[in-house]
Amino acid sequence: MIKFISAGQTLDLRSSELREGLDRELCRFEGDDTEGSFHVGYFTDERLVCVATFHRQQREGFPGLGFQLRGMVTHPDFQRKGIGNQLLNFSIVYLRGQKADYLWCNARKIAFRFYLGLGFEFISDEFELPKIGPHRVMYLKIN
Ligand SMILES: CC(C)(COP(=O)(O)OP(=O)(O)OC[C@H]1O[C@@H](n2cnc3c(N)ncnc32)[C@H](O)[C@@H]1OP(=O)(O)O)[C@@H](O)C(=O)NCCC(=O)NCCS
Repeated sequence: MIKFISAGQTLDLRSSELREGLDRELCRFEGDDTEGSFHVGYFTDERLVCVATFHRQQREGFPGLGFQLRGMVTHPDFQRKGIGNQLLNFSIVYLRGQKADYLWCNARKIAFRFYLGLGFEFISDEFELPKIGPHRVMYLKIN
């Protein structure tokens, strides 16, 4: 089941899967609680197994109402079951209703195929984020 959740509910998965167990409170992102930001989660038997965060944030050079996808994580025991795909598709439909023009993210190399499968395209060359590794900016037109 997919639900809107709080920023606080995303922190355990962010910490364990994106920040190598960093203190959960240090896994908050600037903008998590800004108006227009929202967070979604996929629950299996009441257990939160996949989360994603959306910040209202334009990408330089891309006019219109843009949202940045952040903190996209599926718990390792639940990966490759289509859960991440379902959660993002739910969010894209919601964003269309919000009249968003596009969604973008700094995609980790290991997630390129995942985003390509949802229709995202590359809008940057590869770059390195310190301690995290190679990324490219990816973009999905919504409206
Ligand atoms: C990227 C991530 C969120 C994908 O979540 P998921 O729930 O496993 O994704 P899905 O099962 O919905 O995958 C949908 C499709 O994406 C592609 N995909 C997903 N993970 C993939 C992988 N590791 N390698 C190659 N393709 C992959 C596949 O085409 C997959 O369909 P298939 O399983 O039928 O082949 C998950 O692997 C994850 O949390 N990774 C660790 C954290 C991370 O790197 N997050 C991204 C930050 S930018």
